[in-house]
Amino acid sequence: MTHTSRLPGFNGRSREDRVAAVRDFAALSDEEARLFANGDALPLEQAQKVIENVLGRYALPFSVATNFRINGRDYLVPMSVEESSIVAAASYAAKLARECGGFQCRSSDPLMIAQVQLLRVPCLEAAWREIEIQRADLVAEANHQFPRMVERGGGVRDVEARVVQAEGGPPMFVVHLIVDVRDAMGANLVNSIAEAMAPRLEVLTGGEARLRILSNLSDRRIARAEVRIKHEVLGSRGLNGREVAVRIAEAHQFAEADPYRACTHNKGIMNGIDPILVATGNDWRAVEAGAHAYAARTGQYGPMSQWWCDEEGDLRGVLELPLALGIVGGITRAHKMARLALKIAGVRTAQELAEVAVASGLASNLAALKALATEGIQRGHMALHARNIAFSVGAATTEIDRVVQEMIDRGNISHAAARDIVEKLKAHAGQKRPDPSPVNQYAMAKVNLFGEHSVDYGKPAIALPVRKALVTILVEDNEYGEILIRSPNELDDEIPVAITRTVLRELGLPEDTALTITGYSSIPVHAQLGSSAAFAVAITRAIAQKYGLDLGPRRVNEVAFEAEKICHGSPSGLDNTVVTYERPVWFLRGGEFEFLSIGANFDLCIAYTGEEAPTIRARERWDAAMKAEPERFEAAIEELAKITEQGREELAAGRLVELGALMTRSHQVFQRLGFSTRRLDELVEAALSGGALGAKLTGEGQGGCIVALAESGKRHAVLGALRAVNPTALFSTEVR
Ligand code: MEV
Repeated sequence: MTHTSRLPGFNGRSREDRVAAVRDFAALSDEEARLFANGDALPLEQAQKVIENVLGRYALPFSVATNFRINGRDYLVPMSVEESSIVAAASYAAKLARECGGFQCRSSDPLMIAQVQLLRVPCLEAAWREIEIQRADLVAEANHQFPRMVERGGGVRDVEARVVQAEGGPPMFVVHLIVDVRDAMGANLVNSIAEAMAPRLEVLTGGEARLRILSNLSDRRIARAEVRIKHEVLGSRGLNGREVAVRIAEAHQFAEADPYRACTHNKGIMNGIDPILVATGNDWRAVEAGAHAYAARTGQYGPMSQWWCDEEGDLRGVLELPLALGIVGGITRAHKMARLALKIAGVRTAQELAEVAVASGLASNLAALKALATEGIQRGHMALHARNIAFSVGAATTEIDRVVQEMIDRGNISHAAARDIVEKLKAHAGQKRPDPSPVNQYAMAKVNLFGEHSVDYGKPAIALPVRKALVTILVEDNEYGEILIRSPNELDDEIPVAITRTVLRELGLPEDTALTITGYSSIPVHAQLGSSAAFAVAITRAIAQKYGLDLGPRRVNEVAFEAEKICHGSPSGLDNTVVTYERPVWFLRGGEFEFLSIGANFDLCIAYTGEEAPTIRARERWDAAMKAEPERFEAAIEELAKITEQGREELAAGRLVELGALMTRSHQVFQRLGFSTRRLDELVEAALSGGALGAKLTGEGQGGCIVALAESGKRHAVLGALRAVNPTALFSTEVR
């Protein structure tokens, strides 16, 4: 499996899909993957030992920000937080950064400061001298008292003295013990050292020890992130990238000049850091205190980050912060979720965790500044917030957009408003008088041109509609009180009934509505031509028409996707998208897609071997093969992804010879991997000898169909050659 944090459309996937992707990425066990759902990461008995007066536990969402690339390595960043948009914003900015090489981070040794306040020191100068003279001895004594810290590679490294004075008060003598705490946050250890060393310091200075505690201004424990964002990736809403870069630099100058703005600027940075601290069980109060003190170290509170434009017009950003984080000790090890978060982050040291956190802070800052300097944050923020609210009141997938839009139009984004809108939609759907006459709808097949396997591994795919293979659906009321399926194709009832129930539920109608669904299909089943998607789309269209619901293609697609899950468990969404929109599509798993432009007309000839290739079985084979021979299969996925990218260019430019050659090349990749069959090879050969410019198996392989490219006017020759091999189904489709 490719170890990439670039997971397009991650938020649009089902939770189960997201868990599966994170599980793969971080090699989680079954038990760890179950933790996400069971909410028992901190048993009650244990919770009672963590703090006092415990009544129960408190839950927060647990999430990962995607797309992070730091020092050349991919990270999924664990986040727990109550504010919507934070995870999306960090992931978005990390994607921009990734396109430009990612974040460069470094960090200093994990040095903490223990402070001992000494009052009434008779001679400050003499005390100072004593500390200088005894420095090595003090270090040795402290290390002697804390041997386990030394065994772990840490220890007291230095001792320093300072004199401080409050206005109008006497001078104070303050000793700093500089402690290397390695992978711990270190508060307990550092406090113990301060207390243990205080009596000796009293003797040395003649003063009276008072406060003995760490300093949260851990300015010896610094993490730093840098990023360069090429102006080409910054363009937004009519502004070119150079303009956006300048606007972000100007936003930074505002924060430099004004503490009111600097404070909010810095809140945007902590948006990317605190959720990691919560998720990994770190002390966020300590980090917050340290970060803001560091931002005021010059005497004026200022922005924690810097942004400017370089000579090429690219945007440069730097963030430097004290980050006292631990990956051992405290709750980080005791809390199962914190342990899981650390495993997902894949960090090997506390310093590495600090580097991830500082990169995430810079990413959050970038996302906020870009939005603020262009369209403002409310648009995206409120839409996302409204979406979350719509989900939380139980709006069906198909209703989400409408509920969000109506809340925005009403200017009232709240649970009450969302509930009201959902109820009205449901009542409206229920009141609709169904059309008593039979309703007829259709949907067409699809064929995969490129990337049908690599799409499951985060790569793009290209698929096209097949206009000559159709499912036609007739929907009528019946007297039997249940859903009945009739079909001359002798379909197994179970799947169409399940599809119909899903569609009814998604449309806000009772799942047991008594309907007779009659389906006629010229799409071979299990042939990888989108038969189930065509059923789902046609049934959705027909039921919507019967109930007078004007869904629009986007909603049809969403409903069909829900129905596809019944047939395929975890579909990519490609089939229902092509079938719904009836246009050539460039698609990424998770639902991102674009319509493709076609530079020259041509025909695709499709022949079915008669060998069934059900998607689930074929996909299992791919997964097993990936596990058995990861390097070989990863290389194949990369090659197929390159073919897909190039295929898009050839399609757009209308270079049919090159396009055909790419199809044949991808067939050869499948042959090499053992995913073709003798019958598929025979059909590919026949198509090529009949004059096709290229041919390949289409779909998961191990059976199913081939697809061949014929120049306009050459279709009959190719179909003739294919017919001679005697396929069980044969048709062609025009692409234009
Ligand atoms: C909101 O959580 C954070 C922002 O206010 C940060 C900023 O203003 O830079 C958007």
